[in-house]
Amino acid sequence: MAIFISEDKISKIKNTADIVDIVSEVVLLKKTGKNYIGLCPFHSEKTPSFTVSPEKQIFYCFGCGVGGNVFSFLMKQDGLSFPDAATMLAGRYGIDIPTQTMSPEQKRRMSERESLLAANKLAMNFFRHSLLETAAGKKAMAYLNKRGITKETIDSFNLGYAPESWNNLANFFSKKGISLALVEKSGLVIPRKDKNSFYNRFRDRIIFPIFDVSMQIIGFGGRVMNDSLPKYLNSPETILYNKSRSLYGLNMAKGKCRKSETVYIAEGYFDLLALHQHGVQNSVATLGTSLTLEHIQMLRGFIGKTGKVVLVYDSDAAGIKAALRSIEIFNKGYVDAKILILPAGYDPDSYLFEFGFESFMNTASKALGIIPFLIDSATKKHGLSVEGKINIISDLKKPLTAINDFVARELYIRELAERIGIDETAILKKIKDTSGGKVIQSIAVHEQESKFERRIVAMMLQFQKILSEISKRNILEYFENNTLKSIGEIILKHRNGSDVQSHSSCISADDSGRISEIMNLIDDKKKRNIIASLAIGEERWNSEGCLKLIQQFENSQNRRKNSLFQKKIKAAAGENDRELLDKLLKEKLIQAKKRQKNLRLADLGKT
Ligand code: CTP
Ligand code: MN
Repeated sequence: MAIFISEDKISKIKNTADIVDIVSEVVLLKKTGKNYIGLCPFHSEKTPSFTVSPEKQIFYCFGCGVGGNVFSFLMKQDGLSFPDAATMLAGRYGIDIPTQTMSPEQKRRMSERESLLAANKLAMNFFRHSLLETAAGKKAMAYLNKRGITKETIDSFNLGYAPESWNNLANFFSKKGISLALVEKSGLVIPRKDKNSFYNRFRDRIIFPIFDVSMQIIGFGGRVMNDSLPKYLNSPETILYNKSRSLYGLNMAKGKCRKSETVYIAEGYFDLLALHQHGVQNSVATLGTSLTLEHIQMLRGFIGKTGKVVLVYDSDAAGIKAALRSIEIFNKGYVDAKILILPAGYDPDSYLFEFGFESFMNTASKALGIIPFLIDSATKKHGLSVEGKINIISDLKKPLTAINDFVARELYIRELAERIGIDETAILKKIKDTSGGKVIQSIAVHEQESKFERRIVAMMLQFQKILSEISKRNILEYFENNTLKSIGEIILKHRNGSDVQSHSSCISADDSGRISEIMNLIDDKKKRNIIASLAIGEERWNSEGCLKLIQQFENSQNRRKNSLFQKKIKAAAGENDRELLDKLLKEKLIQAKKRQKNLRLADLGKT
């Protein structure tokens, strides 16, 4: 059950729970120096790179880049929400959580969510009862049998049947004293024009309950049993159901996804049932929507950073469309995706029932990566004549430019060059017409800058005493990397009072819990991972080292600014613009003075 937990309870839980205890339940940890290491539970590895710091109460895996505090560990390991993870920890450490601390608005929203989940559960049982125990359900059962769906699948997916009636579900809720105005918010009933009564959304359809990862019913799908339209009907978007964040079957697939580090993504309800029934349990289905970045990020939590996504499509055309549409998503989600195209006329459902598991896996093992797949289909489409080759390159231009990772991009360009027998540099030139030749160079510069910025944020996380200096000198203002900048800003905003300069060179008691606390303030998983990666290091910070780093950073900024300045001055001189030249020279003088002052401050810091 989801509940609201007050800030000080969270902080009490955080201070009581020990991350080493909790992680030890699933990972065999060994002490090395100040940290513990073990085999990462989130990706498969032979050499331990999963690191836990008891001092900072955080974990970080150097293999897959996942990190966080004790809450994020449980959330990821057990697929829990934050409140659920906190409740579980509270229970374990005997901390009781009163629920009456909710504000009235929180209570209302919380209870609306709870009530809708409860209504969905009642409805699911109603549909199941109709399928399994009523005369009307017999024809639905016959339909499922005809499509090869076993009793086991029906039970494990809780399939049901919505009888042919305008009001039986509405009546069922009324009899239980449940307000139909509330049930309307779940999408199960729809108000009639007169607004005084409601009718059933799903009538005479096979019902597929849609679960979220924590096994709550968030919506339903329904299929007709004849040729009438629409063939499928889904719950509307509600406070529980958001189709761009929901994947059918994920609740059943997550364990196997984790183990196999692979997920198959199909398009339909029956495809998904067929996949599971034939032993491909690491499959999910998008429901009447194309794949979104949110879907991919969710899946990545289960298959891990190096996990594999296989899109299963019925036809070349659908595959090409999906490939083009999803390339940016995969790019942003950092996953390796493959496209499996089934022979013409088959979807995963019909293919599996006709050819079986082995044959499916065999085809799947030959699935191509997105770019190789697009190269393949473009080659098939245009042929290898001179014109054909020109068209192939032009088809591939956009997808290739969309790839951020320039190493991957260069490799694909090489592959394309080899496939169509054209010199690599010619293709490169053509591609760069759109992306601009400076892309690669500027990436290198950015990485250099980010390295500096990463070190500064690492220092801010581990050495609180430096924060006043960071804010005084507006160091974050100069950050190029917006993620690091926003992390830095959060650290500054939530620092606690005392940060007098001193010589202490280890993490102080109040510094240690702070990293974990900052993680709790951040919803973005990517940022939490970055924080963990920056904080886990055993580097010892002291005032002197910190000030030196700040100075170096400022120097590099100044060098950059200076060279820009120099260019401007030269240009102004060249154009004989006395006024501008004067202004620039004055500004230069001010900058130089400021630098002198900072240098003196840094000297003071050393003594
Ligand atoms: N879909 C939908 N609404 C529709 C049609 C389709 O939401 N009106 C979604 C459903 O999730 C469906 C999927 O798109 O399962 C694929 O649709 P389609 O290929 O038409 O159906 P199949 O999944 O092959 O269904 P079946 O085998 O039952 O014909
Ligand atoms: Mn089908």
